[in-house]
Amino acid sequence: MRVAVIGSGIIVDKFIEALKMTKGASLEAVFSRTDERASAFATKHSAKKFYSDMDTMLQDPDIDTIYIASPNSLHFEHSKKALQAGKNVINEKPFTSTLQETKELFDLAKTQNRFIFEAITTIHLPNYQIIKDNLSRCGNIKILTLNFSQFSKRYLTYMAGQQTNIFDPKFSGGSLYDINVYNIHFVVGLLGKPKSYKYYPNIGTTGVDTSGVLIMVYDNFVANLIAAKDSESGYMFYVQGDKGTIRVSESSSGVCKNVGLFLQGDSQPDGIAKFAGFSIEDAFRPIGIEQKQHMSYEVEAFAGIIKNNDFAAYEKLKKQTLDVMEILYNCRIDAGIKFSSDDLSKGGSL
Ligand SMILES: NC(=O)c1ccc[n+]([C@@H]2O[C@H](COP(=O)([O-])OP(=O)(O)OC[C@H]3O[C@@H](n4cnc5c(N)ncnc54)[C@H](OP(=O)(O)O)[C@@H]3O)[C@@H](O)[C@H]2O)c1
Repeated sequence: MRVAVIGSGIIVDKFIEALKMTKGASLEAVFSRTDERASAFATKHSAKKFYSDMDTMLQDPDIDTIYIASPNSLHFEHSKKALQAGKNVINEKPFTSTLQETKELFDLAKTQNRFIFEAITTIHLPNYQIIKDNLSRCGNIKILTLNFSQFSKRYLTYMAGQQTNIFDPKFSGGSLYDINVYNIHFVVGLLGKPKSYKYYPNIGTTGVDTSGVLIMVYDNFVANLIAAKDSESGYMFYVQGDKGTIRVSESSSGVCKNVGLFLQGDSQPDGIAKFAGFSIEDAFRPIGIEQKQHMSYEVEAFAGIIKNNDFAAYEKLKKQTLDVMEILYNCRIDAGIKFSSDDLSKGGSL
């Protein structure tokens, strides 16, 4: 997998780090909108080439895969161009602004005989698989609670009346698309698509949500997904069942570093019985493992799928992205959050 990257934010640094750790993957080129920035970014990462013209880069035969970390609203356009040029695509989250765009990209990838992936880190982590493997130990699941609240420095800029991509409807910003998407992937990856859902947003001055609560209802349990860019909370992820509870003591976007399991009736030394008067917080036993750099697992997965033409694995990831995009899009529209790309699909312009 010979990769060129679009975007020069912090996440691209992390992605390149992961790329360099992965056998069968290499960094071929970087793209930035000015020659100056492209050259500096190439030097920073020892990239062989740099480009400031995307069309020229997409003609480079040494590149077979494009990683896209541009602002959300540009994911569709950049992915489409890359697929049309015959490249595979690794597209950052949220995959696109609308469900229609997502479907169009997957169809195009099929026509072009190429792969397109969503770079959603958590679902590729070994500790996520461990959570999955231990779910049945919780018995009948009753409640899931995820809280990914992270006060954004860009919120201060926004509150000062300056525009910033992440709170801009022109760039498909807002808390639901930016960070609640991690929570949704986390739950859908474990338990599938909910039977119904509703999003309750706090809408800011630009018309997008700065925080909000998404309720996802399943046959026998309910999930409460909280995300905020305008306020803080401790990160948390809990699956509560009638036999036990799994906890990840960090956000669902993170690395699933601290995964714990509490079983009803546990007693020392494995745990401390809740009913013995101790807090449940003390009673979780660690079940996670020590992991590598968190993005390296997704890079390995994508490189493997491309190398082996592993369509079974690809279809699984594609279904998850489609399910999540359906939830994101329907919640956004139902909550009255409008993006400029909604008009674009009807012939409007940014
Ligand atoms: N997976 C994760 O954990 C994770 C973490 C953070 C972010 N992300 C995702 O990665 C993407 C980028 O996030 P970010 O915070 O880096 O976004 P950003 O700062 O808004 O923009 C990313 C890059 O796009 C280019 N850009 C900025 N404004 C542009 C414009 N108007 N037109 C064309 N290009 C523009 C800039 O690169 P140049 O100036 O070099 O062209 C910039 O570095 C987002 O989709 C975000 O959701 C994922």
